[in-house]
Amino acid sequence: SAAEKGGYDYFMLKEIAEQPKAVADTLLGRIDAAGSLSLDEVRIGAGELREVDKVVIIACGTAFHAGLIAKYAIEHWTRIPCEVELASEFRYRDPILGHRTLVIAISQSGETMDTLMALRHAREQGSKVLAICNTNGSTIPRESDAALYTHAGPEVAVASTKAFLTQLVACYLVALYLAQVRGTKWGDEIGAVIRDLSRIAGAVERVLETMEPVRALARTLASKDTVLFLGRHVGYPVALEGALKLKELAYMHAEGFAAGELKHGPIALIEEDLPVVVVVPSPQARSVLHDKIVSNIQEIRARGARTIVIAEEGDEAVAPYADHLIRIPATPTLLQPVVATVPLQVFACELATARGNEVDQPRNLAKSVTVE
Ligand code: G6P
Repeated sequence: SAAEKGGYDYFMLKEIAEQPKAVADTLLGRIDAAGSLSLDEVRIGAGELREVDKVVIIACGTAFHAGLIAKYAIEHWTRIPCEVELASEFRYRDPILGHRTLVIAISQSGETMDTLMALRHAREQGSKVLAICNTNGSTIPRESDAALYTHAGPEVAVASTKAFLTQLVACYLVALYLAQVRGTKWGDEIGAVIRDLSRIAGAVERVLETMEPVRALARTLASKDTVLFLGRHVGYPVALEGALKLKELAYMHAEGFAAGELKHGPIALIEEDLPVVVVVPSPQARSVLHDKIVSNIQEIRARGARTIVIAEEGDEAVAPYADHLIRIPATPTLLQPVVATVPLQVFACELATARGNEVDQPRNLAKSVTVE
């Protein structure tokens, strides 16, 4: 009913709007007054966490994209090797697991059968499993050694939005916690990142206030067949998530690519007026990456692409090459996906509406897939 949707036309719009609160709630009580993490829920002892020599993340769909982003954070802050695998592929290839492997299963519903079977396999091999989950008492956290809950609240729309942002937050918390427990050469950086993370809900709020031009742009693209998404570093999984949202909601052909891979194939797809969304990394940190993506944008634009550029406030270098410029607040590099994903959610939702699709219940999809 309209009341349940809080005055919004769709649950998805309501859930997009709830993201600042979902993010804040997921952080609540997990950062102490001294700026350290206290994650009592992670009931895997410090001794055992210090012994971990590999992290393996298993998930499906949007949760898998959160896992891809988590890998960058975990490896950078902890220097523990981290693999990310689609849960449906995992157990069928006889993965290498042991008691020093920490497996992280990410699932909004906690009932996805592929993820559940993968975590059972991991536990049979002696690995400890930590679930990142949004649904209290669901099967995946019940069968795991420990659970870190995301506090997004119930997510009704089939296409995941607020759960994804809180999965990112939970992944950062786990990565930073591992760094805290094990000690890391990034000691100073960790403290600063925890502070930035505690302010990220405000940045999400600011993005939401500036989404009207994104909606207007989406409406002009309603008759297109294809949209491509490019990113580098953590922007690459963001591009994959942007493309997935568009497939799920707008039923359009959408693909995400690592921008550096363009020249190895995808650039052949570029033609006159093809919309290409590019997620641009922060110009301050990792400036090499920033320069590279600016030249990627020039390459596709020279071939006629219509460039839709998502860039930080104050990033002027990229502006001349953007046919459409979407601004996001500046954040530390690894946290950027929390804000950069939001315009892509709004974009897909508006395109679905413009194409007359059912936003909350896309054809052929289910919120939770409980068969393998
Ligand atoms: C389904 C949903 C997706 C979701 C995926 C994983 O396919 O349609 O939106 O990302 O399952 O769900 P989970 O509940 O495990 O996060």
